[in-house]
Amino acid sequence: VSPIPVTGRTRFYAQLADPVASVKLPEILQPVLDARGLDVAIVPMHVAPDGLGEVVTALRLWQNLVGFGVTMPHKEAVLGLLDELTESARMVGSVNLVRREPGGRLVGTNVDGSGFVAGLHGHGHSLRGRSVLLLGAGGTARAVAFALAGAGVARLDIANRTAARARSLAQAVAARFPGLAVTAVPVVATAVGHDIVINATAAGHGAARGILLVDPDTLHPGTVTADVTVEPVVTPLLAAASRRGLPSVPGAAMLHAQLGAALAFMRLDGPTSPDLVVTPLCQ
Ligand SMILES: NC(=O)c1ccc[n+]([C@@H]2O[C@H](COP(=O)([O-])OP(=O)(O)OC[C@H]3O[C@@H](n4cnc5c(N)ncnc54)[C@H](OP(=O)(O)O)[C@@H]3O)[C@@H](O)[C@H]2O)c1
Repeated sequence: VSPIPVTGRTRFYAQLADPVASVKLPEILQPVLDARGLDVAIVPMHVAPDGLGEVVTALRLWQNLVGFGVTMPHKEAVLGLLDELTESARMVGSVNLVRREPGGRLVGTNVDGSGFVAGLHGHGHSLRGRSVLLLGAGGTARAVAFALAGAGVARLDIANRTAARARSLAQAVAARFPGLAVTAVPVVATAVGHDIVINATAAGHGAARGILLVDPDTLHPGTVTADVTVEPVVTPLLAAASRRGLPSVPGAAMLHAQLGAALAFMRLDGPTSPDLVVTPLCQ
């Protein structure tokens, strides 16, 4: 598909990140937009945390902007800068997608969790009734934890470098899903008794590239492993799984699964799905 040239009629979608060089959205989403004949161009924006408020104010005024994506480290900070939130954004407490409406009104949602679950399902792995070990308690891990609970896992153990964050996430999920056995467990965690082990930390790349919060020797035959990290493709968890011949789902599955939901939310692809219905933001 040939790229659609940028003209005065082109609309824009910004992706806010810091750092920005690892953002993969233009390579993945732009060809999808081009293939659908959508004259929308993706612009990665390098925005430091102390500039986020002013940038978001400016984006309200950018009239040919359809919306913007939000990634590390802005997903929680952006929440208080918006006018409306979907139920998923409220539940998770962070936003990864913002629609700009005419007049500059900003509506935020979070499709990280539903994307992760859809990615696992797309690889043929069901979640209902399974025992899951989740590594991480940051913004993405929160979204994944609530989505796993919503998908009907039977047991959820959460391990995080900062133990207090794992405890707080476990409490939040337990409060929302009272029937679920959800526990904060220490690192380095053990995978014994878990059907699925998920790395949702940032520990697979950058300065923390080699760090693994589960003892790889406890991964047992039949364990499904999954990672949220897109770059590198082979993370420490997926490398350990590969050495043991275990099935694994890379971070790209989650990213690809989010595209349909993102286009619908941006009103670029048919009606908005029910879980993306917005509720007014009460502050
Ligand atoms: N595939 C996709 O579609 C997709 C979508 C969204 C995000 N992601 C990826 O998800 C990852 C996490 O993003 P995030 O927004 O959740 O970041 P975040 O909110 O900053 O959370 C970072 C998480 O990683 C842990 N961590 C960071 N450095 C570590 C280290 N050196 N050792 C141990 N743990 C460490 C943190 O533990 P502490 O609490 O102890 O700091 C925390 O649990 C990133 O790699 C991002 O690219 C992928």
